[in-house]
Amino acid sequence: MKTARRQHSYRPSPTRLRGRSPFGAGAAKPRELAELRARLAEAKQTLRAIRTGEVDAVVVAGKQGPKVFTLEGAEHAYRVLIESMNEGALTLTADKTILYANECFARMVKCPLEQVIGSSFRGFLSAEDRAVLRPIMKHADKSGSKIQVLLIGVDGSQMPAQISIRPLARNGFNRATIGMVVTDLTEARHNEQMLRVLSQRLVQTQEAERGRVALELHDHVTQMLCAILVRSQALADKFSAREGPSKKEAMKLRELLGQTAEEVERISRDLRPSVLDELGLVLVLRNTSAEFARRTGVSVKLACAQLTARLPADTELTLYRILQEALRNVEKHARARHVTVRLRQQGAFVQLAINDDGIGFDPDHHPARRKGKGGVGLLSMRERATYVGGVLKVKSDRRIGTEIDVRIPLPARATASK
Ligand SMILES: Nc1ncnc2c1ncn2[C@@H]1O[C@H](COP(=O)(O)OP(=O)(O)OP(=O)(O)O)[C@@H](O)[C@H]1O
Ligand SMILES: [Mg+2]
Repeated sequence: MKTARRQHSYRPSPTRLRGRSPFGAGAAKPRELAELRARLAEAKQTLRAIRTGEVDAVVVAGKQGPKVFTLEGAEHAYRVLIESMNEGALTLTADKTILYANECFARMVKCPLEQVIGSSFRGFLSAEDRAVLRPIMKHADKSGSKIQVLLIGVDGSQMPAQISIRPLARNGFNRATIGMVVTDLTEARHNEQMLRVLSQRLVQTQEAERGRVALELHDHVTQMLCAILVRSQALADKFSAREGPSKKEAMKLRELLGQTAEEVERISRDLRPSVLDELGLVLVLRNTSAEFARRTGVSVKLACAQLTARLPADTELTLYRILQEALRNVEKHARARHVTVRLRQQGAFVQLAINDDGIGFDPDHHPARRKGKGGVGLLSMRERATYVGGVLKVKSDRRIGTEIDVRIPLPARATASK
């Protein structure tokens, strides 16, 4: 047995207290409660001592007399646990020399374990990741830090990984100060990628379907409504001045049909991506904003800077759909009085910002999201922006309102002609 630096005595729950609850009807007497509390404090102290490495052995009072548990045994159990982990585990000195690594980490970097130990952890990172890691290692506190890096194997292979960093206690000459767990993110990244492809396909299918419905509405429903409109006008004309009430009724019918045809045409236009080809982005944004203001009574201020070149079709469609969804949200949720829409070119990006002065919300904790049945509007805006390489930010405050800000990179030729 290893010589104990210090032994801790720990007495587990004695038989005479077993089965008694300190709570409820059969509550223990104050003296027994005090004894229980003292025992709990003692157990906590023992655990702390084991964790910090102050002791090498623990004496536990049992029915068959005291029993000594050496922590060599515990160390063995930890070692087995760490060696069988699917994560890489390491201890490093402050200058990132690897003192210990498990087999899993050696497999991750495709290097024999004996070569891994003693080498520098920096050798398994790109210069960029090294720079990010440096301050994190320096300032990592007991709660730990996590970063995502590309782990570089000795054969040049790259593996996306998450590194969890925790400082370890300094023990005498033990120079190990940092503990690390390295998790392989290859599968997670692959799944993310698959999800992204899937949702991109969904958006494409949705666009195709919208186009189809728009055409059906335009080619059939609107045409039929127009035909009925002409007939109803003819009917109204047939009534003489003496048949005043009937004529009035026919005129009213004609007017309603006219409004219906216009509404169907508007829906068809909103659904149709080709409207962008016909009118161009700026005019479509202008029409959409004007139509929104007319229908809802919310004033819309539009500021569109002249762009140096026509944007790629998928960027234009993304901006158009984002404006549509943002305005739908204003109508449904914001209770706003004013909306501002700004489109401008900012260096190599095109930026669209939609602000409202409504009730605002907490983007991270809105009620629908908490209940797990959130809408898909914000999500689909963000996904659409991502497909074209852009970034969408939502800023919202309960007293100020909401801002949707999207930036999409422009193709090189659009910025070059500036
Ligand atoms: N402009 C806004 N003003 C106030 N709250 C908003 C605004 N935009 C979004 N929200 C809040 O964010 C939530 C999520 O919006 P999102 O567009 O994702 O879903 P939805 O509008 O509820 O449903 P869907 O868009 O699927 O029809 C809304 O339910 C609402 O609480
Ligand atoms: Mg919505």
